[in-house]
Amino acid sequence: MSPHAPPLRGSLPPGGADPAWGGPAPDRPVNDNPLIRLRGITKTYGEGHTAFQALKGVDLDIQQGDFVAIMGPSGSGKSTAMNTLGCLDVPTTGEYLFRGVHVESLSRDQRARLRRRYFGFVFQGFHLLARTSAQENVELPLVYRGEPAAQRHAAAHTALEKVGLKGWEHHTPGELSGGQQQRVAIARAIVTEPQVLLADEPTGNLDTQRSHEIMELLWRLNAEQGITVLMVTHEPDMAAYARRIVRFVDGVVASDERNPHPVALQAAHATLNDAGQEA
Ligand SMILES: Nc1ncnc2c1ncn2[C@@H]1O[C@H](COP(=O)(O)OP(=O)(O)OP(=O)(O)O)[C@@H](O)[C@H]1O
Ligand SMILES: [Mg+2]
Repeated sequence: MSPHAPPLRGSLPPGGADPAWGGPAPDRPVNDNPLIRLRGITKTYGEGHTAFQALKGVDLDIQQGDFVAIMGPSGSGKSTAMNTLGCLDVPTTGEYLFRGVHVESLSRDQRARLRRRYFGFVFQGFHLLARTSAQENVELPLVYRGEPAAQRHAAAHTALEKVGLKGWEHHTPGELSGGQQQRVAIARAIVTEPQVLLADEPTGNLDTQRSHEIMELLWRLNAEQGITVLMVTHEPDMAAYARRIVRFVDGVVASDERNPHPVALQAAHATLNDAGQEA
């Protein structure tokens, strides 16, 4: 194993089939081998005279541990790109390498297993089961995995604690604020210990203060747990938390810039300075 690549949580020995999803064991990402590599990705919806090309040749490399905000006008292909990245949909042409595995050539079943093993999803509309407690909502992905009840309970408990909802386990979504509901959705996304968290407008339904709270949470998951975060947002104030900002225009990447001073990083430094713990 490369000295540049620390063992990933839940990663598997190199070589042979990966029992986690049944396909080839993915490479470990190293400096010249990113976690995610898109090359010439196109996506056409429909056929004939109704065909519409939503992605027109997207090239993108994403390193493990990055925090990327995806911005751009409505209809520019952001959600289409996220669906492709999250293995929910396949590109029409082009290559998608996830840890060296060619996603575009996997079967539907293999793709689903890869998705469940490595990705967590957060959407604008929370998508929680209404008459089901926060705890049970968070346990759902583990039910699908067939994990025993005791392990599910413990993992859901830990995930809810990570998102600041300790003590709220037995509340249903109707008894929670919008911000709390989104925290439950984030707990559900991280309960499987994904390597990549995909969030499509996660603050789109929240007021400004709740939005900042959700962004701080995503920032912490990235900075403290090492989860790679890819987030679509229309709001520059929310994109300011990311380490990198990629802009889509008309189905292609129009710009791709590092953010040298992510917002929450500044806040963390300010706290350290206040406490006199930093030079
Ligand atoms: N399932 C589909 N069938 C046909 N066309 C689609 C489909 N999904 C998306 N499109 C079209 O592809 C284009 C890109 O859509 P996409 O949802 O990726 O945009 P977006 O950048 O996420 O926009 P928004 O900011 O409004 O969410 C749009 O013109 C849209 O109408
Ligand atoms: Mg969208």
